[in-house]
Amino acid sequence: MSKRGRFGKASVRDAEVEGRTVLVRADLNVPLSGGAVGDDTRIRAALPTIELLRDRGAKVVLCSHLGRPKGRDPELSMRPVAVRLGELLGTEVALAPGVVGDEVEAAAAALAPGDVLLLENTRWEEGEKANDAALADRLAELADVYVNDAFGAAHRAHATTEGVAHRLPAYAGLLLEREVRELTSVLDDPARPLVVVLGGAKVTDKVGVIERFLEIADRILIGGAMCFSFFRAQGHETGDSLVEEEGIELARRALELAAGSDCELDLPSDLVLGARFSADAEPVAADGVDVPDGMMGLDIGPASARAYADAIAAAGTVFWNGPMGAFELPPFAAGTRAVAEAVAGTGATTIVGGGDSGAALTEFGLADEVSWLSTGGGASLELIEGKPLPGVEALRDSDGEDES
Ligand code: 3PG
Repeated sequence: MSKRGRFGKASVRDAEVEGRTVLVRADLNVPLSGGAVGDDTRIRAALPTIELLRDRGAKVVLCSHLGRPKGRDPELSMRPVAVRLGELLGTEVALAPGVVGDEVEAAAAALAPGDVLLLENTRWEEGEKANDAALADRLAELADVYVNDAFGAAHRAHATTEGVAHRLPAYAGLLLEREVRELTSVLDDPARPLVVVLGGAKVTDKVGVIERFLEIADRILIGGAMCFSFFRAQGHETGDSLVEEEGIELARRALELAAGSDCELDLPSDLVLGARFSADAEPVAADGVDVPDGMMGLDIGPASARAYADAIAAAGTVFWNGPMGAFELPPFAAGTRAVAEAVAGTGATTIVGGGDSGAALTEFGLADEVSWLSTGGGASLELIEGKPLPGVEALRDSDGEDES
């Protein structure tokens, strides 16, 4: 278990909820498949807060966004989520006819202690993303208390994550507080060496995290297509590889910062190439990192994978976010698998940002083998970067000792 970071917000554990209606914002933004929930990880992660509230006699009004709908897209109704949540809770979860409005208010008012009502997709309401005051007012009319457990959406200042928190007594849910503690434990006096593994396609997504970790980590290992912005900054040929052009200057600056820091910034020394982004492309091992025209880099090479796995094995703390290559294509999954296995197999504290690295761990059957697998992708990066998360900032400050 990791050493946990600080968290100065009031907890749902301290809220008076018996007989009261509690609006819970969760992140139930799950993948759907054939009209049903494809992966229920985020629904399971929301259960402890819902169960605590039901056990304490609260009437629970639950809400979340699902996907990025344009208007009231019926394909992105919360119905499949209500069905899966009901199965997991072992009780019926009623689906409200919308997000706010008279009918929704009537459904909330009819709840008995222990009941759960799920609102429709919050992004069906135009005012959600605009953090509209009138929408926040109507949401607040549904309940007596607000709990934010949507860590994965805490970087969004929306009506259900931020606006409504100013209108009701607002507490942190169990998942949200644990996420913040576990993720910030990486920044707060981590066991050394602190090894950070960053992958994915875009330098622009990760540059803030790279710069933060250059100040506190011992080693940063870079993989994924964002390597090619670094390689271009170093003057290498990148062939047909995916290169984020606007990332090249950022990569150059990160290399300069790294040269003046105590943190080692490692790039792969070899690659696996393919002629196209396809599962039937022939994987071709390349000793160096120059990519010829007609080929693209789709994974880190075996020497790099070994070196990265060795660095992870020697770490006291590991933070991993982003795959090493196109792991969704089996011929190009070896680098990500090597990192996943090394992270899962070390005795170090291992904290994994959500998104694709979480999906990779799940695909390799290793999701339970890490100290903490975050449910938040963008939110975990922004937290690590040191940006304030609006969904956290809006909550009540805790008035006593910070619990752990
Ligand atoms: C996520 O999947 O990262 C969160 O649910 C936030 O979703 P969004 O990026 O659509 O705001």
